[in-house]
Parts: sequence; structure tokens; C-alpha cells
Amino acid sequence: MSETVTITHEDGIAVILLDNPPVNALGHALRAPLFAALEAARADDAVQGIVIACAGRTFIAGADIAEFGKPPQEPSLPDLIALLESIAKPTVAAIHGTALGGGLELALGCHYRVADKAAMIGLPEVNLGLIPGAGGTVRLPRLVGPEAALGIIVSGKPIGMDKALALGAVDRLAEGDLTADAVAFARAKIAEGGPHRHIRERAEKLAVDLEAFDTAVKEATKKSRGLTAPLKAAEAVRNAISMTFDAALERERELFLERRDSEESAAQRHLFFATREATKVPGITRDTKARPIDSAAVIGAGTMGGGIAMALANGGIAVKILEMNEEALARGLGQIDKIYAGSVKRGSISQAEKDARLARISGTTDYAALADCDIVVEAVFEDMGVKHQVFGALDKVMKPGAILASNTSYLDLNEIAAATERPQDVVGLHFFSPAHVMRLLEIVRGDRTAPDVLASALALARRIGKVPVVVGVCNGFVGNRMLAARREENESLLLSGATPEQVDGVFADFGWPMGPFAMVDLAGLDISWKHRQSLGLTAPIADALCEAGRFGQKAERGFYLYEEGSRAPKPDPFVAELIAAKAAELGVARRAVGAEEITERTLYPMINEGARIIEERIAARASDIDVVWVNGYGFPVAKGGPMFWAERYGIGKIVDRLEYWYGETGKEVFKPAPILRQLAFTGGGFADLA
Ligand code: 3HC
Ligand code: NAI
Repeated sequence: MSETVTITHEDGIAVILLDNPPVNALGHALRAPLFAALEAARADDAVQGIVIACAGRTFIAGADIAEFGKPPQEPSLPDLIALLESIAKPTVAAIHGTALGGGLELALGCHYRVADKAAMIGLPEVNLGLIPGAGGTVRLPRLVGPEAALGIIVSGKPIGMDKALALGAVDRLAEGDLTADAVAFARAKIAEGGPHRHIRERAEKLAVDLEAFDTAVKEATKKSRGLTAPLKAAEAVRNAISMTFDAALERERELFLERRDSEESAAQRHLFFATREATKVPGITRDTKARPIDSAAVIGAGTMGGGIAMALANGGIAVKILEMNEEALARGLGQIDKIYAGSVKRGSISQAEKDARLARISGTTDYAALADCDIVVEAVFEDMGVKHQVFGALDKVMKPGAILASNTSYLDLNEIAAATERPQDVVGLHFFSPAHVMRLLEIVRGDRTAPDVLASALALARRIGKVPVVVGVCNGFVGNRMLAARREENESLLLSGATPEQVDGVFADFGWPMGPFAMVDLAGLDISWKHRQSLGLTAPIADALCEAGRFGQKAERGFYLYEEGSRAPKPDPFVAELIAAKAAELGVARRAVGAEEITERTLYPMINEGARIIEERIAARASDIDVVWVNGYGFPVAKGGPMFWAERYGIGKIVDRLEYWYGETGKEVFKPAPILRQLAFTGGGFADLA
């Protein structure tokens, strides 16, 4: 008996109950007493069968992720499962909530699995840069067949009980009380008299054609985005077919340990905790009650308004969209219909699901129709005058307590709130395009935003499947502000002698899905041109490209050339000549520019700006910035976000090079932020700043 493990005896069945809140992670505090309990039950002649069940909201959700990177403590999880496999009396896992990773692996060490109907099981290790390390890749294929196991392990996605039962991953869905049902099941198995076979004794499902399996591997790992873990996980599942049980198990452990000690896994584990940490917001406690949100309004049915309406409707919320006139409204609603139709065509949703989602969206041109909505999200033109007009109108009609949100990308939220008599109800909800797809949501906290409004925004984000990060008010908030710093040197690099393909190549090598020039071509050069014009700014090369009608992919030419119907960028001699001519005109001497210089002049200013964002408390912590960049801007997951990467790479080295470039150019983006200098001096990390 211990604080986390208790044994009760029910007429010959030992029920071992695990209680390690919040998710029964299999840390040492659970493994050690569980090991002892299993040994005791094995030795006790009065015990004829064993049920392992969990208290709280879930069965074991996996190994304790916080333990990775610390010295291992025995018994290990494989030790525990080996012990389970040495028990001949029937062992039953009683699964509720989520049996994930090591939790499912432990359940696979039992003879039988009984589950609650709403339970989910999975091996999500790849999401942490790992592979299952306690037999998951060896036992699951023997239970459900290698191809089904491959799908579950490589995707990392949990499955529900319908599928689990059909695959044979669970033996029974419980009726009524789960533990009582599992006990009754154990008794029935004892009465049947066996044989009770452990998964290691079952090999019949492994008789598959390796060639066909390899084809399935190619398909399953197609979207691995340069990550190693999914490939290694597939290799481990293949070993389950081609090697003996014990050899495959041993190799799995080696592959797991390699992954566990990799930078990639450290980065992904950092992101796991960072994402959860980001929801802990200064000033918001467990007692801060979120306002209920059952209905929403969106102002503006353009690119963002339409996407936001879909994001809300997809989360089950009724949405009214308001536009300036019937024509604009019809256009916006038509666009939504078209996007949903595309999803049906691709098979990602059914026609019935499309109909249900569309039924939640309605349109209006009358502010009075919005009065009862719990929240309104404004997504009109990025212009303070227009925003004021809209918020003034909303202030007049919305019911007391309604949340008034703006999707502004850059504007001062406090100034927007000043158009109302209720600044406490005003918050920024900065979605990313396309808003129904992109997971990031920057929640902008104004000077007077009420804590319960922030709590409501966080709850809403969770409900509609977004990853929220609360940020403060400044030009561009966290993401766009750092993007601007990263962009600053793009043109100078070209003038200095780099080519667009060389710069984009350095970004690709770092792991970005796309480099900055391919990105502008995709977004359209005209959009940033207009933005520059509105701010009175110029960019010699991009402006000249726009003047030549080269608006990017849509014009089949921009920084690159695109052959008809192709999205593949091709270097264009016209652009090379234009860059050379501009450099001559501006008196910039051209020279060879290396990959290191490109990194130093693009990535380092971005990290520097991130440090300023922390100094100004626009972000509560460095890891919030990582969450923003990985979820909103394609920063490579394997590198854990800009601030995490900076720390692992060496802040001192970055500061040295920032100093150098500051000396060379005198540009503010290179002037090292005081906290970076401080960390370079002390050798500490961002967490030490708190
Ligand atoms: N280890 C340590 N802490 C964990 C954990 C784990 N495996 N899983 C969750 N937690 C912590 C979270 O950090 C969070 O802590 P906080 O409250 O201090 O922020 C708390 O538990 C609650 O988690 P969530 O906020 O995520 O709660 P949800 O209810 O939304 O989700 C969950 C629950 C589905 C279990 C989700 O937490 C999850 O997916 N966890 C990770 C599961 C996982 O990846 N398991 C595999 C681990 S690796 C492994 O098992 C290796 C093995 O093969 C050897
Ligand atoms: P858009 O031009 O596609 O859509 C704006 C819509 O608002 C138009 O349909 C217009 O008719 C409507 N509108 C304008 N004034 C209105 C008013 N007074 N009342 C009702 N409707 C009105 O613009 P987009 O791109 O959707 O941007 C909207 C907002 O979202 C801006 O603040 C922008 O900065 C922000 N944003 C844009 C992103 C993007 O990638 N496009 C990303 C994140 C935020």
C-alpha cells in the first residue's frame, strides 16, 4: 500500500488501484509501488486474478514526460511489464479516459483489456519526438495486425472504442461500473479456465507480406515533416514482423533511448509543456469564472471573418455574420459554402457535417440582430477609423457582459476599446489565416481587459481547438512583431549579394516549410506593397517587382518564375539582374554571402525582438513565444521555437554576432536586447529571468 497504489481483494480478485493525479502518469512514485503490488498479488495464493484500474479522470496517460532527461530510476516501465508477463493468473486492465503511451503499453502487458465506452487509447509518443519504449511497437502489431498498428503509432492519434473493439485492441466495453465489470470479466475468464495467453505468445497476426507493409510505411510516413521519430517508429513496427519478439523489444528500447536523448525530442517535450504553460495567465486563477459562450457574431465576411465564423461553427457555436451590404454578405457566405464543399470533396467532412456546420452560420446587415450574442469578433479592414465605427456601434447594441473582440493584426487594442464605454469587455482575438485551419490564437490583453474575459477567451480557444497564447498590446503583438524584425534584412541580403533561392535554401535547411521569398510570392507581393504604401515605407526590390506586375504566384512571377499551373519556384535571371541593378543604383558593393550570414541577419534579429517582447512583458514567458512561432508561423517543431533554439544554441554566441552586425550596420534590429546581454553574461536561460 502506498499513497498512489492501493490493493483491495474482492473474492479472489486483487484490484490494484492507481491514483497519481492529474493523469496517472507512470512516474517513479507510481512504478515502484505498482511493482511491489504486482509482486505481492503474484505470490498470494488467495489471488486468482488481477485488475489494474485508475482513480481520477483517466487511466495512465503515459510515462511521466517530466522524468525524461533525468537519471532513470528502477523499476523501469519495461521491468514492470516484464513482471506482468510473468504472471499466469488472468490480468485485466480497466481503462477509462485516455490510455496513452506507457499507459497503453502497460495495458498490453495484461492478458485482457476492458474499457469504458468513452475511453480512448493510443501511442502518441511521436508527438514528443519519441517512439513507444515499453513494447508498444512489438505488442500492438501482434494484437491488431502490423498495418493497423503502424497507423496508430506513426500518426500518434488516439482511437475511440468502436475502432479499438473492432481491431481487437480491447476485449470488452464495460456496462455500468468499469471496475466492477472488469472484476466480473476476470472471474468469467477464471471460470473458463484459460488458456490465458500473453500478447508475446500470439504471432498469428504477423503473417503479412513485408513488401506490402513497406508500401504502407511509405504512405504512413509521407507527412513526417522532416521529423525522425515517425520513421523510427515505423522501423520498430517492421522489426516486430521481421525479428523475434525479444530481439524486436530490445531494438525498440535502443531506438527509444536514442530518440529520448535527441534534440528533436527535447524540443517537442518543451513544446508539450510550453503549450500547457501558456494557458496559465498572470491574474487568472481557478476562481476566475469564464463567461458562457453559446452564440457569436462576426463583423466582416472577408478572408478572416469567414474563416473565424467557420472556426466557431466547427466548434458547435451558432454564428451571425454582419456585413456592410447584402452583396458583400452573399459573397462571404458563398465563399464559406465553397470552402466546406471543398472539404466534402476531399473527404475530410461528410455532406451531413457540412450541412450541420452551415446551419449554424447565418448572415445579417443589421447590428440589432447581434444584440443577444455572447461574443462578437470584429474582422473588418485594418483601419482605426473603421474599427472605431464598428466598436461604437457594437457598444450601443450588444447586451451587457457580451465580449467584444477584435481580430486586428497590428492596431492598438486600447485605442479600439476607447471607442466603447466598456473597455473591460474588449479583448483581441488574433486568428491566423486560414482561421478555420491555423491553430494559433493570440489573445490580446488590453490595459483594461477583465480577467474573466481572458478566461472566457481561453475557454473558447480550447472549445474550438485552438492553441491560445495571451499577449500584450504592441505593434504586431508577438508573432507579427518578430516577423517584421526577421524581414528587415531580406532585401539588404539580396543587395549584399545573396540570391532569393540561396536565402530560401538556408531557411529550408533549418527546417522551415518555406523561405521568406517563396512565402511573399505565395501571399502576393501586392499585399505587402499596399501595406508599405499605407505606412509610407519602401522596399527597393519588392517595389520594383510590383511595378513590373510581378505579384507572385498568382501572376506566375514574383521573386521567382512559376510555370503555368505550377507552384514550384524557379530562379529568374530577370530578378537577378534587377537586384544587381538596384545594388549599383544604391552604391552597395556586392560580395559572396554565406549561409551563416543569412542565418545571423534573419533569425538573430527575430530572437532579439523576442527578448525585447519578454522585457516589455508583452509575453509572460519565453516559451509562450515558442508556442506562437511553432503554431502560427511554421517554425520547425524539431527546433522547439526560436527562444528554445536560441538557448540550446548559445545566447552568448548570438549576442556576439548581433554586436558584430550592429557595429557593421548601426541597425536597431541588431542592437542586443539588455536581457540577452545579461543572459550571455550569466550563462543562464530565459526561465531564470522570472
Ligand atoms: N507526463 C507528465 N505530465 C503529464 C503527462 C505525462 N505523460 N500528461 C499530462 N501531463 C500533465 C500536463 O502537463 C498538465 O499539467 P499542468 O496541469 O501542470 O499543466 C496536466 O497533466 C493535465 O494535462 P492536460 O492539460 O493536457 O489535460 P487534458 O485533460 O487536456 O489532456 C491528456 C489529458 C490527453 C492525457 C494529455 O495531457 C496528453 O495527451 N498527455 C500526454 C500523453 C502522452 O504523450 N503520453 C505518452 C508519454 S511518452 C511514453 O509514455 C513513453 C513510453 O512509451 C515509454
Ligand atoms: P478583408 O478585406 O478580406 O475583409 C474585410 C471585410 O470586412 C470585407 O468583406 C468588408 O466588406 C468588411 N467590412 C469592412 N468594413 C465593414 C464594416 N464597417 N462593417 C461590416 N463589414 C465591414 O480583410 P481580412 O484580410 O479578412 O482582414 C480583416 C481583419 O483581420 C484586419 O483587421 C486584418 O488586419 C486582420 N487579419 C488579417 C489576416 C490575414 O491574413 N488576412 C490575419 C490576421 C488578422
